Amino acid sequence: MVLLAWIFCFCLLLAPATAQSWATIPFSTQSLPIALRSPYLNSWLSQGKAPSATPFASNTFWPVFWTTSPPAQIVAWYVAIRVDGVMYNVFGGQNLPHVANQTAAIITPTQTSFILQAGPVNVNSTFLSPIEPTDLVRQSMPFTYLYVDVTSADGQPHSVQLYSDISAEWLSGDRTMICNWTANINSDYISLQTQLQSPIPFAEIGEQALDTTAYLSMSKQASTTWQIGGNNRGVFNNTGVLLGTQENNFRGISDAFPTFGIAVDLGNITQTSAPSVWLLGLLRDPVVQYTNGDGNKEMRSSYFWSQQANPLAAVSFLLNDSSRALDAGNAMDAKVLADARKISSPYADMVTMSARQVMSAIDITVKKDSSGKWNTSDVKAFFKNMGSVGGPGVNSVDVLYSAFPAYLYFNPAIAGYLLSPLLEFQNSKQYALPYAAHDLGLAYPNATGNSNPHNEGIEQSANMLIMTLAHAQFTGDGALISNYYTLLRDWADYLVNNTLSPGAQTTSDGLTITNQTNLAIKGIIGIAAMAKISTFAGDSTSATHYQTVSSNYENQWQALSFPSNTSHLLSGYGSQSSSGLMYNLYSDKLLQLNVVPNSVYDAQTTFYSQNSASFYGFSRCKHRISSLISGNGSPYDWMMLAASTSSNTATRDALVLQIHNFVTAGVTSNSFPLIYDPTSAKAGGGPGR
Ligand SMILES: *[C@@H]1O[C@H](CO)[C@@H](O)[C@H](O)[C@H]1NC(C)=O
Ligand SMILES: *[C@@H]1O[C@H](CO)[C@@H](O)[C@H](O)[C@H]1NC(C)=O
Ligand SMILES: *[C@@H]1O[C@H](CO)[C@@H](O)[C@H](O)[C@H]1NC(C)=O
Ligand SMILES: *[C@@H]1O[C@H](CO)[C@@H](O)[C@H](O)[C@H]1NC(C)=O
Ligand SMILES: *[C@@H]1O[C@H](CO)[C@@H](O)[C@H](O)[C@H]1NC(C)=O
Ligand SMILES: *[C@@H]1O[C@H](CO)[C@@H](O)[C@H](O)[C@H]1NC(C)=O
Ligand SMILES: *[C@@H]1O[C@H](CO)[C@@H](O)[C@H](O)[C@H]1NC(C)=O
Ligand SMILES: *[C@@H]1O[C@H](CO)[C@@H](O)[C@H](O)[C@H]1NC(C)=O
Ligand SMILES: *[C@@H]1O[C@H](CO)[C@@H](O)[C@H](O)[C@H]1NC(C)=O
Ligand SMILES: *[C@@H]1O[C@H](CO)[C@@H](O)[C@H](O)[C@H]1NC(C)=O
Ligand SMILES: *[C@@H]1O[C@H](CO)[C@@H](O)[C@H](O)[C@H]1NC(C)=O
Repeated sequence: MVLLAWIFCFCLLLAPATAQSWATIPFSTQSLPIALRSPYLNSWLSQGKAPSATPFASNTFWPVFWTTSPPAQIVAWYVAIRVDGVMYNVFGGQNLPHVANQTAAIITPTQTSFILQAGPVNVNSTFLSPIEPTDLVRQSMPFTYLYVDVTSADGQPHSVQLYSDISAEWLSGDRTMICNWTANINSDYISLQTQLQSPIPFAEIGEQALDTTAYLSMSKQASTTWQIGGNNRGVFNNTGVLLGTQENNFRGISDAFPTFGIAVDLGNITQTSAPSVWLLGLLRDPVVQYTNGDGNKEMRSSYFWSQQANPLAAVSFLLNDSSRALDAGNAMDAKVLADARKISSPYADMVTMSARQVMSAIDITVKKDSSGKWNTSDVKAFFKNMGSVGGPGVNSVDVLYSAFPAYLYFNPAIAGYLLSPLLEFQNSKQYALPYAAHDLGLAYPNATGNSNPHNEGIEQSANMLIMTLAHAQFTGDGALISNYYTLLRDWADYLVNNTLSPGAQTTSDGLTITNQTNLAIKGIIGIAAMAKISTFAGDSTSATHYQTVSSNYENQWQALSFPSNTSHLLSGYGSQSSSGLMYNLYSDKLLQLNVVPNSVYDAQTTFYSQNSASFYGFSRCKHRISSLISGNGSPYDWMMLAASTSSNTATRDALVLQIHNFVTAGVTSNSFPLIYDPTSAKAGGGPGR
């Protein structure tokens, strides 16, 4: 069934382009990922609900930065084609008399393609954001590709020129800031660069970094031309050839919007033999400042600098790599989709939506050693919390926990690079709290530590134990456990003292009732994880101790949270009319701990199945709804975690379908949000904070 649907979808592409309508394949969604390679190279296109009619298409709107809540911040990337002297918009909301007709948008885990008809030719413009998780050099390069293919629609040759530009909107959320620019031209490539004239290291406005340099590049051929200025598009329109000049009045980003354009003349063709390729990069160096275990501030650079001498060397490397990169993207898509479709087709769609998102939330870094050489044994990764759950911040532990399965899937070593700075900082004299920190710094990219007391001691301590064990289980690498064993045991002891009566402690979902069932079980699972960690460390006495405590606590927890006269877990001890989404059971399954007996999973699954009729999510989970009404949403990751604990596939699939319903309903133009309100189907923040 799944395969048939997929093939059928492609039939639409072959149908003649009638009456300006189009579909998004293989599922309809309003907002499509465009360029997602780092927390700052992160753009989406809200093209409207498909299938639809123009003017709602990729070439009538501008792509926006990931924080799409109003006002959406445009980060322009523009594409046009000139056919037999007539210029058509292909991508971006420039107002032109001739607008190509979109016939399809196609989305895969690594790519978004737009298929358009521009007069007598068909155009395929494909945005690839590579996911190369086991190649740290390529994965850490914040560059994204655009491939454009053209085919004659009437079999006749046509004179074709292609054009793409960016604006300097990528450089700041304050569009009055002054940018400057340089054209780097040699025999191999054209690379147009722009940066703020007064960059501010590690600072942000509107979540956009103020220390980036943007590069739009293309391999040099006889027919490639470039121009920097305010009227490149007009020049292209007139002749199809750019002037090779730059304006000299460095100015504000939105002051007669300087654009950085590169064009290629393909001559008279019936079809391109290879795509024309543009490369967009957004570089920062260093990317993160990190306070290490000795209390010193480390300036950390993207991992790829250990292999590339300078930005233009990186540009040249990636331009030469463009054909391999596309093949690798296709191979990654095939693997991810095959794996995800083993669960279900709607699940594969959700993975398609989130794959680029989750991989672009991190910076993988190295630093130089005292002799000035890159130390590639010293890898640390940093995660920007791009959502409104858990507050902004660096490596926010509870949000990292939700994203963790993706890193374990793509490359579990990355999961370890993300844990490493959290463990190092908290193992040092700078950190004295008896429970784990909420994050590693209040605002990305300043990983300068956070020792502030907070009310999520159980949540975060258990998260750290669970993630550390997961990393060891998925990699077989016990280094983090042996380096930080005492710290991990302290957190486990904290859980032993606190988790059975969590009192007023909270989880990250904003629920405030006392003695939360879902929180207590997370701590109990954390203690069971510690038993396995002790086994890993060869400390069998402690392993037995933590195992005994967790199983004893689980018995008491069940009596408190699952009285014999109810059919499901209560969301608070003794709160007889309560119920909830027990998403924290997920890690019991992930780590194969078997803390909670199947009878509890079965009862909870039956409860979910009886309550899964609502279209977008769990509005009948009573204590959840109270927090929803007060403004928080139903996090899709929490629903996804709960779905993973279902004892039967029908209930699991029903939960996944609710999220799918939300994404495909066209009720919001936001990018895939971290949370949404299942009652109003409004995105509850982040992206769209
Ligand atoms: C778009 O489609 C309409 C209807 O088929 C057609 O009249 C028009 O010429 C097309 N425009 C382009 C640019 O191909
Ligand atoms: C669009 O172009 C990309 C990149 O060249 C290619 O992988 C993809 O198959 C093309 N899609 C269609 C529908 O032609
Ligand atoms: C642009 O500004 C940057 C940052 O101040 C500076 O390093 C660079 O030299 C300037 N470039 C030009 C061409 O003025
Ligand atoms: C990070 O710290 C620097 C000072 O080192 C500061 O200028 C910057 O605003 C901070 N960044 C954020 C996002 O708060
Ligand atoms: C392109 O040129 C045509 C014909 O001169 C004109 O109608 C159109 O407005 C121009 N478009 C742009 C973007 O300059
Ligand atoms: C393309 O074809 C047109 C007319 O068919 C002709 O005028 C023009 O010279 C050709 N251009 C090239 C580069 O061959
Ligand atoms: C890319 O290819 C060009 C042309 O073959 C070559 O001159 C250049 O050195 C290559 N760049 C890199 C980084 O290998
Ligand atoms: C490189 O990093 C590793 C891991 O942090 C460290 O053990 C080693 O001492 C470092 N090497 C140098 C030369 O600093
Ligand atoms: C746990 O409680 C015991 C007894 O009150 C106390 O001695 C110990 O310090 C506590 N440990 C932690 C980690 O809070
Ligand atoms: C929380 O649960 C514990 C264990 O049942 C109980 O002793 C305590 O009174 C409860 N606290 C509150 C505030 O209900
Ligand atoms: C279940 O039993 C408890 C006391 O054991 C009582 O307070 C509660 O009202 C009962 N709930 C239902 C739904 O009957």
